[in-house]
Amino acid sequence: MLRLVNVVGARPNFMKIAPLCDEIGRRGDRIHSVLVHTGQHYDESMNDSFFRELEIPHPDVNLEVGSASHAQQTGRIMIAIEKVFEEHRPDWVVVVGDVNSTMAATLVAAKMGIHIAHVEAGLRSYDRTMPEEINRLVTDALADLLLTPSPDANQNLIREGVPPERIRLVGNIMIDTLMRSLERAKTSRILERLRLEPGTFCAITLHRPSNVDDRSTLMGILGALEAIQRELPIVFPVHPRTKLRLEEFGLLEQTSGMPNLILTEPLSYLDFLRLYSNARLVLTDSGGVQEETTALGIPCLTLRDNTERPITVTHGTNRIVGSVPEVIIQEAFRALHDRPAWGGPPELWDGKTAARIVDAIEEASIKLAEASPVLRGAPAN
Ligand code: UD1
Repeated sequence: MLRLVNVVGARPNFMKIAPLCDEIGRRGDRIHSVLVHTGQHYDESMNDSFFRELEIPHPDVNLEVGSASHAQQTGRIMIAIEKVFEEHRPDWVVVVGDVNSTMAATLVAAKMGIHIAHVEAGLRSYDRTMPEEINRLVTDALADLLLTPSPDANQNLIREGVPPERIRLVGNIMIDTLMRSLERAKTSRILERLRLEPGTFCAITLHRPSNVDDRSTLMGILGALEAIQRELPIVFPVHPRTKLRLEEFGLLEQTSGMPNLILTEPLSYLDFLRLYSNARLVLTDSGGVQEETTALGIPCLTLRDNTERPITVTHGTNRIVGSVPEVIIQEAFRALHDRPAWGGPPELWDGKTAARIVDAIEEASIKLAEASPVLRGAPAN
């Protein structure tokens, strides 16, 4: 029996683990898995609704670390997860994405000699001011099996000296969840609730520290929204970090002065899918939303100076516009009036990535067992 521990922590992990749990469940005769939730995200809108809608099994273990500074959050996860790994002695720890939970679990597993599979490996923004870039670099440096979503990720890893036999191009796991949820998202009543017609509104998400933690940057972005909402309504599901900053900086008044800017709580997966899949334009600083709009051909502007997902620009509908208000306004009007061309989703963003990932882990395990009858991670005697 192959023993896995799957680790999740924050909202963008949940849509990546859902199809993996399903695929592993289908192979239950030969794979035993334990789901660990670090508790990095914890409330109804950031956590519970995703487990429910995506039918993710209830976590076997919840570390309940909650919010804290990066060092404290990472440290708490490491201390707690070490005990879980000691108890379950997995052959592999499977980590996804680039959040603090991903890196913390990787550091502990590596020191315990447990093999690590990283889903969504090889993405690089080449911007080390982003906490996620640090998490990506550390995780990929330590992982034994690097499962990549696109060829550019393979190239990044090769450039960093990762042996090619550790890298497997498997495609984009988020798109598995997206494809299987499209039909169900039609049951969402979000457009009716907000009184919106398909194709007549924008959607925006914003939570990167670089955009929301600095008052003048956040104020500038709101200024751009002010101009855009004169043309068409903008729906803005507000991330908890962003809500906190809007309150702290006294900017809520500025938002309430815009009649066509609709602020909501963070939306559930199906509500958000129905929303953005019917939007005329999406503005975002999220990684996942750049990919989801590319998969569906929805025009997207990324309010950052770089992206770790360049395939969304070269093959998708994404444009990198930064956070300068005048540029955001200009690019938004350009995208509204001149819809970017779309040639279909990138290769291997086909809904079958979870199966390729579990195949890759099983194959790697067989190779390891052949190379050494005692797996790394098995207790030495
Ligand atoms: C984290 C991830 C980021 C990911 C984002 C998606 C890291 C370094 N960052 O950033 O990669 O794109 O999640 O959401 O791992 N909060 C709540 N309820 C929750 C969760 C958080 O109110 O369920 C609040 C926290 O108290 C905190 C703020 O939201 O004040 C930010 O949460 P935090 O986990 O620090 O980072 P994110 O900005 O969400």
